[in-house]
Amino acid sequence: MIETPPSALPLHRRQLLRGMAAACVAAALPAACDRAAALDLVAAERPRILPGCTAPSATWGYAPEWPLILRTPRDRPFSATLVNRLSQHTTIHWHGIRLPIAMDGVPYITQDPVQPGDRFTYSFTPPDSGTFFFHTHCNTVESLGRGLAGVLLIEDPREAGLYDVDTVLALKDWRVAPDGRFQPFVTAAGAARAGTFGSLRTVNGGPPPTLTVPPGARVRLRLVNLDATRIVMLGVDRDAAVIATDGNACPPFPATGWSIGPAMRAEIGLVTPDAIGAEIQIADIWPARPQVLARLVTAGPSRKRRGPPPALPPAQLPEPDLGQATQLSVSLQAGHENPLLEKWLAESGLGADALCLSGQTYWSINKQSWPGMSHQRIPPPLFELTSGQSYAMELFNATPHRHPIHLHGHSFRVLGSSSRSLPPHWSDTVLVEPNERLTIAFVAGTPGDWMFHCHIIE
Ligand code: C2O
Ligand code: CU
Repeated sequence: MIETPPSALPLHRRQLLRGMAAACVAAALPAACDRAAALDLVAAERPRILPGCTAPSATWGYAPEWPLILRTPRDRPFSATLVNRLSQHTTIHWHGIRLPIAMDGVPYITQDPVQPGDRFTYSFTPPDSGTFFFHTHCNTVESLGRGLAGVLLIEDPREAGLYDVDTVLALKDWRVAPDGRFQPFVTAAGAARAGTFGSLRTVNGGPPPTLTVPPGARVRLRLVNLDATRIVMLGVDRDAAVIATDGNACPPFPATGWSIGPAMRAEIGLVTPDAIGAEIQIADIWPARPQVLARLVTAGPSRKRRGPPPALPPAQLPEPDLGQATQLSVSLQAGHENPLLEKWLAESGLGADALCLSGQTYWSINKQSWPGMSHQRIPPPLFELTSGQSYAMELFNATPHRHPIHLHGHSFRVLGSSSRSLPPHWSDTVLVEPNERLTIAFVAGTPGDWMFHCHIIE
């Protein structure tokens, strides 16, 4: 396999150099993975000069490199210790991974927050291969805004040799002034609408990369949206297919026109032209003026591959039984017209006064919001599900904005939409368009209090 340029996979390279330290570098050193490797993820402020800035920004990260990219084999124990060197508490949520609730990283609900100076070891055996990511679940708007996230690639030996080039493209905007200072991460206008956008767009923390790839090669691009606001619509000026969504392989479908919201991942497969010097552009075609995300330029000997990009081995997820599925419905609403919430506030003794927080409550799910999002006032569950049973859920978006809706600890089948035709695929985060009724189905996983929320974090 052709390695991606060092800038694209810094940690992977470093780990190779460090031998068996850190996460298992599965593809390269399968034997090392039988040993429990010590991997520290050190959450700390790490000043970094962002592209176009004149001075360093106070970014946060788990390692000196950004983005941090870890690789580990599926069905093998994975373990990582969060070391908190920030001045506030934190946790790690392993987005999209089916794991025990105690490892899900939601403060106060699945674990105590990890205080400054403390550490917490996350251990689980990832059952699915694919492109995943991890991020803090505390003070998330600011933490994610400062970059506290990493990419986790879970590898499957069945994929070996399928693609000649395998590269991560981590998308993230930063809200910084030209002197590098971070600007307020939340604005009232943004929070009430499509979210507060960053001012500087980056790919792998820098300007859009130009990657040198062999001619006639199968290229797998793993796009990971680490932004908390930006929704990207892909445009590729060559036949390219989405081969996996949110880590889960899918029957290939055209990449151009596919949207990836915050937290979503899309893997693109393409075969490069069999000529030297050919250029392919991957862009975000949503804005009036498309933004280039990456360029591929062919050089070197041909890999002599032809035909369409191959499908990945199918995802192996529990298949919901649609005939037996219990129906659930969720409506996403703007505002806080909220009789259930008021009833609950009255019953809980907090009184309607607690609604003074409603000035910051712009959104609700089934007319429930989470006032103040305080851990002392955790709202009652939206639904109580039975582990192992099938559920079909209709998501209705009654707001004028798109919402990337995420369910922790599960991947669900996206079955259909009232307003567009969708290819068959599995997701853990799905974009629901204004006025759309979207149906998803899944088998309830292991017991626990699983969060269900919009990933436009504010
Ligand atoms: Cu990326 Cu609560 O999730
Ligand atoms: Cu939303």
